[in-house]
Amino acid sequence: MAKYRSLLLGCGARATEHVAVYADLPDLELVACCDLQPERVQHYQQTYGIPQGFTDYEEALRQVQPDIVHLVTCPGNRVWEAEVTAAAGVKAAIFEKPLAICPSDQAALRRAQASGLEIITNCQRRYFPQFRDGVLRQIVAEELGEVYLVRASCKSNCMAMGPHTMDLLLLLLGEEHPNEVWAMCHTINETEFQITHRAPESTFAQYWFPSGLRVFFDATPDALGTPGETSYWMHLHFDVLGSAGRLYLTQNAGYWYTRHGHAEPLYGPSSWDQQGYAGQRDFTAAVATHLDGGAPHLNRYELHQHAVDALLAAQASAYHGHKIACPASDFTDAQWLELRERLRRG
Ligand SMILES: NC(=O)c1ccc[n+]([C@@H]2O[C@H](COP(=O)([O-])OP(=O)(O)OC[C@H]3O[C@@H](n4cnc5c(N)ncnc54)[C@H](O)[C@@H]3O)[C@@H](O)[C@H]2O)c1
Repeated sequence: MAKYRSLLLGCGARATEHVAVYADLPDLELVACCDLQPERVQHYQQTYGIPQGFTDYEEALRQVQPDIVHLVTCPGNRVWEAEVTAAAGVKAAIFEKPLAICPSDQAALRRAQASGLEIITNCQRRYFPQFRDGVLRQIVAEELGEVYLVRASCKSNCMAMGPHTMDLLLLLLGEEHPNEVWAMCHTINETEFQITHRAPESTFAQYWFPSGLRVFFDATPDALGTPGETSYWMHLHFDVLGSAGRLYLTQNAGYWYTRHGHAEPLYGPSSWDQQGYAGQRDFTAAVATHLDGGAPHLNRYELHQHAVDALLAAQASAYHGHKIACPASDFTDAQWLELRERLRRG
């Protein structure tokens, strides 16, 4: 019998990848799903053989009393989601990214985590081997000499692919997090995913780290991404420059690094198609291991909260118009909204 019983909230496009891996997870059982749209609930129940279906999340929590919840919803309701999930006594909540789009989301998540809910962010690339096994971290820490500049970029707004990009940046840097940021933003686009992933259409930020490292972070439709890719979510690129070498990684192309003395760059894979399923499976299995008291989850809130802080601080800097300390603890929802209004006016 499975050790942990799970409930899925949100039966949309992305949830298929959360659900598919359950076939390979003996310690976990997906016992129920919930969506506001009954036809989606029915489709998930029939397609994946999920025993119970609901259209009311609080009712589902009451009846199912799950150990683990997958929150595969678009952002916009994170305060309520965090509060009712924590109040139901759920052990772990896997939230899809972006974990928080505004300061009050982050505050609610902090309260939920403090009340005993283990919050895990679905930035599953941490379970792709080149990240999980420390290959890239080791190159950055040991092969490049003194790392003095990083460029991290993605082709979409900073709450769409930005969470993945910032999350992996912090992993590459050994979980160091920035202490200052200076950012500029422009344009509000409210057409497609941007309706819910609310953020300036373009954000360009410089982050400073306690070690003196400077990072250029670019989340904008014309940022450097993966040549030939048309989907916004397939773009993710890093350049890491050190005194003795450099590393660059392009999603769906690979990673290369070279140091003084190498005749040719050394290559490794980076592929969504080849690594996506196993990454999501291992990410989900690791939640059970974490709850068992085994290896701490690589996407636990304790780590990911700093990625959220960094993304919000960039918007706080754009609001203030100058370099600020990171995290921006006094950034308010009212200021966040005012920045949006200013950008909307142009
Ligand atoms: N980690 C990744 O690689 C990755 C990839 C794609 C998308 N995502 C993220 O996944 C999230 C979901 O994306 P999607 O494309 O599946 O969205 P979607 O809109 O297709 O699905 C979300 C579903 O949640 C349901 N829902 C929302 N609030 C609800 C509530 N209170 N009660 C019941 N159901 C509710 C909606 O009805 C909808 O069916 C987004 O935040 C997106 O950024 C992550």
